[in-house]
Parts: sequence; C-alpha cells; structure tokens
Amino acid sequence: MKGSTFTMIKPDAVSAGNSGAIIKMIEKSGFNIVAVKKTRLSQKMARRFYAIHKERPFYQDLCNYMSSGPLIAMILSKDNAVADFRTLIGATDPSNAAQGTIRQLFATSIQANAIHGSDSEENAVIESGFFFSELERY
Ligand code: RTP
Ligand code: MG
Repeated sequence: MKGSTFTMIKPDAVSAGNSGAIIKMIEKSGFNIVAVKKTRLSQKMARRFYAIHKERPFYQDLCNYMSSGPLIAMILSKDNAVADFRTLIGATDPSNAAQGTIRQLFATSIQANAIHGSDSEENAVIESGFFFSELERY
C-alpha cells in the first residue's frame, strides 16, 4: 500500500552542499517528492518539533543545531515509506550506519547526521503538518 513519510535534510548537509546528492538518492530509491520546502526553524519551533525528546540530555543541543541554518523539509510517498526510508538513511550514529546509507555517506556526527526520517506513520502525519498545510500537499 502507498504510504508516506516526512524528512528534513538537516542544516549540516544543506550548508555542506549535499542536498542535491541526497535528493538524488531519495528519488533513485523510488520515493516520490510530494511537497518540498527550504526553510529555517526558530529555536522556539525546533523545541516544539522535538518536544518528544525534551527529557533527553541532548535536547537543547539538538534544538540549537536544528535552528542553526536552513533545512529542506519534504513529504515523500512510496510503498512501505516509513520503514524503507529509515533503511535508506541508516542508523542515528553514522559510525553504526550501514554502507551506502545517506548517514554513512553524509553525516559527520551523531548530532549532525544529515537527515531526519519519521519513525512511524502517525508521526509522519504530525511532522508533515508542522511544515505543510493541506493546500501545499495537493
Ligand atoms: P531523526 O529523528 O532525526 O530521524 O533521528 P533518529 O530517529 O535516528 O534519532 P532520535 O533518537 O529521534 O534523535 C533525534 C536526533 O537527535 C540528535 N541526537 N543527538 N548527542 C546525542 O547523543 C544525540 N542523539 C541523538 C540526532 O540529530 C538525532 O537524529
Ligand atoms: Mg527520531
């Protein structure tokens, strides 16, 4: 069944000039870009987006980093989108990411790990709604 997921090319990958190469990998892997937006999160928006991590020790660092520069937010569609996209991006820590994954190729640290991928269909809908209105999706 056609599913969808949400992704952000994170500030480290955008500032390094890797967004084109990453989008190419995403398209070559069979994902269709439903919506795309280059934008920048304020500290307040980053804190809201990552509210699920607010008790984690890395929360403040993560919010500083995610609001440090422009990012590219996208809604992607594909069969089995959430799980297949997590496979394509690889493990959170690039030193554990499988060969050929986006994080293995482009991430520079566990924090500056190039890309985000939703961890469930439910969160994909919530996260997509954070960046895109219904009108922008269709
Ligand atoms: P994401 O949500 O960005 O797709 O990443 P994920 O599921 O693989 O990892 P998650 O546990 O949700 O963590 C969200 C993001 O927080 C940063 N992080 N820093 N310093 C640290 O130990 C640490 N751990 C995680 C990463 O940017 C991670 O993607
Ligand atoms: Mg996550």
